[in-house]
Amino acid sequence: MKIDPAAAIVGHVAVPGDKSISHRAVLIGAIAEGNTHVRDFGRAGDTQASIDAVRALGVEVEDLADDELIVHGGELRSGAVDCANAGTLMRLLMGMLAGRDGLYELTGDESLSARPMERVAAPLRLMGARIDTTDGHAPLAIEGSQLLAIDYKLPVASAQVKSAILLAGLSAEGATTVVEPVPTRDHTELMLEAGGARISRRPTSVTVEASTLSLGEVDVPGDFSSAAPLLVAAALVPGSDVTVHGVGLNPRRTGLLPVLERMGVRVAVFNRHRAGRELVGDVQVQHAELSATELDAKEVPLLVDELPLVALLAAHAHGETIVRGAAELRVKESDRIEAVTDLLRACGAHVTSRPDGWTIRGVPARLRGGHVDARGDHRIAMLGAVAGLASREGVDVEDAQTVSISFPGFYDLLDSLVKR
Ligand code: S3P
Repeated sequence: MKIDPAAAIVGHVAVPGDKSISHRAVLIGAIAEGNTHVRDFGRAGDTQASIDAVRALGVEVEDLADDELIVHGGELRSGAVDCANAGTLMRLLMGMLAGRDGLYELTGDESLSARPMERVAAPLRLMGARIDTTDGHAPLAIEGSQLLAIDYKLPVASAQVKSAILLAGLSAEGATTVVEPVPTRDHTELMLEAGGARISRRPTSVTVEASTLSLGEVDVPGDFSSAAPLLVAAALVPGSDVTVHGVGLNPRRTGLLPVLERMGVRVAVFNRHRAGRELVGDVQVQHAELSATELDAKEVPLLVDELPLVALLAAHAHGETIVRGAAELRVKESDRIEAVTDLLRACGAHVTSRPDGWTIRGVPARLRGGHVDARGDHRIAMLGAVAGLASREGVDVEDAQTVSISFPGFYDLLDSLVKR
């Protein structure tokens, strides 16, 4: 798809429901008692895989609308699950199934089958789980067994690994504690609390005991990670002014906002309120001259999926930006450190990759543009599109439709904001 340069990005929009929370609503709804009514569900390739997964395990899911579901919670039965491209689905499911009677087989597409699963299997085995991986990857075989609680210090900051252990803790004997090196997104904890689980939280750890859950209703906030490309496009293109309404503002997801501010962008947040236990509001970003910044491991989990966009901002900023502590990007849907380096270079930026991030020498002008490959990675396709809007000559994005993994309406929504 050819993305032409924009004269400005202007307007008010809403984005689809949060992917992380949508996955959790379906998965936790499947093991909760009674019905879970999910509103503003973010329907996309990944979240549809979660619906298909629980259906494959015998759970009824009623589609009331594209963005509305009822999950009929109950017992799971043995089955084979295709997790497609969805890492969150596979990892959370491992924890959920390890302590439930039955035989389960989990597979994924080529990208998911290359991502590390031992980081989840290892702690679950310490709890007594029976999990076979294929050299540390999918396909996986799980035989549900009685689990025992553990105290576990996460070796990598990962909300997916943390969540898998907490979900296993729901059916384990004793109190399971997970300690985090740095805080990661806490949607699982918030949803378990809302569902009445026996869960307690301290600043760097969380403890859960065997519990029965009942969610009742889940209102999913707009996905901050889907709003981010629109906000970054507004920051980059002169004359832009964009407001995204009803977007999730969980502080463990919105690390991009302080980074934008450090780089000189005017960010305003209005109408702060809660949807259940999640913070929600409207975010406005206006274009500004950008200056370089630095990021390290402590900040990374708060904007892990937005780091490719930070690299694009940095390419347009005065001075040198260094991103450190982001080695996790190498094991996302693609190796995002190399994918971003190649994409930005193809557009004319000065970027070198580091083992754990990038060094970017910014030039405060439009990049030339060029031809880029999304590599089957939705966030890289969106990066290419934003780079195109901010470029002089436009960007051709190969594999552009891969955005449907998280945001099927991305190009139409973006187009509604573009002034040419
Ligand atoms: C997610 C956690 C993050 C993030 C992913 C979704 C989640 O992964 O990159 O897109 O829903 O828990 P890690 O926590 O493994 O870094």
